[in-house]
Amino acid sequence: MKLCIQHAASFVPAGSLKAIAAQTAACNELLENGRGAGNDYIGWVTLPAEIDDAFLADVEATAKALRESCEIVVVAGIGGSYLGARAVNEALASSFDAYMPERKNPIVVYAGNNIGEDYLADLMALLKGRKFGIINISKSGTTTETALAFRLLKTMLEKQVGKDEARKRIVAVTDKAKGALRSLATKEGYKTYVIPDNVGGRFSVLTPVGLLPIAVAGWDIRAIVKGAQDMQKATAAAVPYEKNPAAQYAAIRNALLQYGKTTEIFVNFNPRLHYFAEWWKQLYGESEGKDHKGLFTASVDFTTDLHSMGQWIQEGQRNIFETVISIDNPEQEVRIPSDSENLDGLNFLAGKRVDEVNKMAELGTRLAHVDGGVPNVHLSFERLDEYNIGQFIYFFERACGISGYLLGVNPFNQPGVEAYKKNMFALLDKPGYEEESKAIKARLA
Ligand code: PA5
Repeated sequence: MKLCIQHAASFVPAGSLKAIAAQTAACNELLENGRGAGNDYIGWVTLPAEIDDAFLADVEATAKALRESCEIVVVAGIGGSYLGARAVNEALASSFDAYMPERKNPIVVYAGNNIGEDYLADLMALLKGRKFGIINISKSGTTTETALAFRLLKTMLEKQVGKDEARKRIVAVTDKAKGALRSLATKEGYKTYVIPDNVGGRFSVLTPVGLLPIAVAGWDIRAIVKGAQDMQKATAAAVPYEKNPAAQYAAIRNALLQYGKTTEIFVNFNPRLHYFAEWWKQLYGESEGKDHKGLFTASVDFTTDLHSMGQWIQEGQRNIFETVISIDNPEQEVRIPSDSENLDGLNFLAGKRVDEVNKMAELGTRLAHVDGGVPNVHLSFERLDEYNIGQFIYFFERACGISGYLLGVNPFNQPGVEAYKKNMFALLDKPGYEEESKAIKARLA
């Protein structure tokens, strides 16, 4: 992995970046010594190095059993209990995976991440008469979106195959002792995995939350863990700023924020990275957006969105910067054919790989946006494989911890997400919310 912040650093006074850079080691140290805010939730910092062979073998065995017994596996979860697995699975799979006629592995689909009635009806129509299983993921075990989807799917599966077979096709990933999902799993006798107490949802992709659905989809979770382990070493507090990509990324984004760049746009030129952007937006948005502070995290898929948001980015309000993710080498090769008539005028590209065109689009865009006043952070990965993805995940997690401490917030809580839940429960007359119900109904009357 290579990070270049040169075309972002030129937008802030050198002294100010230097001053922030000087604080990164202390912030990084807080992650290692556990003396920072939110220190109950920093288990992810040392997690890669602690993952052992027996655990991986167990996850692989459960994944194998689900792969053998199911055509479709539904992963039910939301936020941190969903986005990491989806990001990895979509980054590694064919863009047309679900339509490929010959498959070794089950189709993995996602539920419990919205409350769309049509979405759930569509999903149930897909599952009707098919051999399916469920991985239900919820740390609290009480998240409405996930619990609701699970209730529907469990009922359907039990009707389809009977309680005994259903039990074999359901895996629960949850807290070791607390919550409705833990109680239900114990009562029903589901295979379970524990989400460690000290790892919050958005930092949990390297726990069974991410690793099980990724293994079910057929990917090499050992290579992902190896990538993360190597990145853990490369970003440790003892690694000096000049050699520490997580410290540099954390520093530049805080320096840009100080100089009025209040939105960070995560940019990819590879459609398979779309869900990585979703994962990244949650990781940074939920970690830093509090105390009326924090960068707004946005994302675009290029070149697609150059034909929509490209105008805004080139010439709109100058409060943005871009973090561009490049993949050096595509996994496959497609060359552009020559055409004797050349009616489309594309013969100047004949013989070139499609990726050469994409790379020039990327370079041209980065230069144009920098010229238009948009600072550019550039991050390149050799290829989009499991090892690099492991590096990618840990890099962004580590930088997020450092960055949150630089900003002066607790990066590991999310008190703001409770407000909508309180209103929703009050509006739905949930027992225990009687006072809130009265108040909200009076307000709406
Ligand atoms: O990062 C987080 O903490 C959140 O996104 C949670 O993961 C999300 O709300 C789901 O929570 P739970 O796993 O308890 O169902």
